[in-house]
Amino acid sequence: MSDLPHSPAADRNKQPILEALARILGERGSALEIASGTGQHAAWFAAAMPGWTWQPTDADARMLPALASRVAQAALPNLRAPLLLDVTAPRWPSQGAFVRGEEKFDAIYCANMLHIAPWAACAALMQGAARHLLADGLLVTYGPYFEEEAPAAPSNLAFDQDLRARNSEWGIRRLEDVAAEVRRAGLALRERHAMPANNLLLVFGF
Ligand SMILES: C[S@@+](CC[C@H](N)C(=O)[O-])C[C@H]1O[C@@H](n2cnc3c(N)ncnc32)[C@H](O)[C@@H]1O
Repeated sequence: MSDLPHSPAADRNKQPILEALARILGERGSALEIASGTGQHAAWFAAAMPGWTWQPTDADARMLPALASRVAQAALPNLRAPLLLDVTAPRWPSQGAFVRGEEKFDAIYCANMLHIAPWAACAALMQGAARHLLADGLLVTYGPYFEEEAPAAPSNLAFDQDLRARNSEWGIRRLEDVAAEVRRAGLALRERHAMPANNLLLVFGF
């Protein structure tokens, strides 16, 4: 048995997210994952999508050894060693380099970060994605959002309150605010997919 850090939520949502990604992304390509956390998504997606090279990253240096262990345990040729990457840093990755230098990717994937980071991380994610996506590349985000036109789910309202109590800079973001940052970065919202447990999977492109 593995004693690696483990997120029960990631175990629950990894298959629905994979099914959406498999429909949205083509057969092959290169993906940069932002905020990989435990690496459960990275290992699951890389195993199920052998045509995709997956680059996990996280901003928390304390998470990287466990993330590296998960990657090593997965032993997949298309799953790269994790890198330190804070979206708000002036360059990506924050330390070291991508395998191919100033690499651009076919996809950038970021789950459950925007509400657990200061608001500035949203603009930073979008600006960085614009720098590191190929011209026909896609940014995919997953997580809870509030939407102007839709009543907020009680579970999301409670989660938002809990987040804000833990850190006044955290909180569930309004999709309209996120879309404004996206436009500032030269990207646009292309697809919105409702996901289990009141989450959304959003797809952005140039
Ligand atoms: C709730 S976890 C999500 C982990 C994983 N993506 C998932 O969905 O299970 C949030 C992650 O965001 C990362 N994070 C927070 N601020 C960040 C930043 N500025 N840049 C990149 N990652 C960040 C944290 O280190 C943490 O691993």
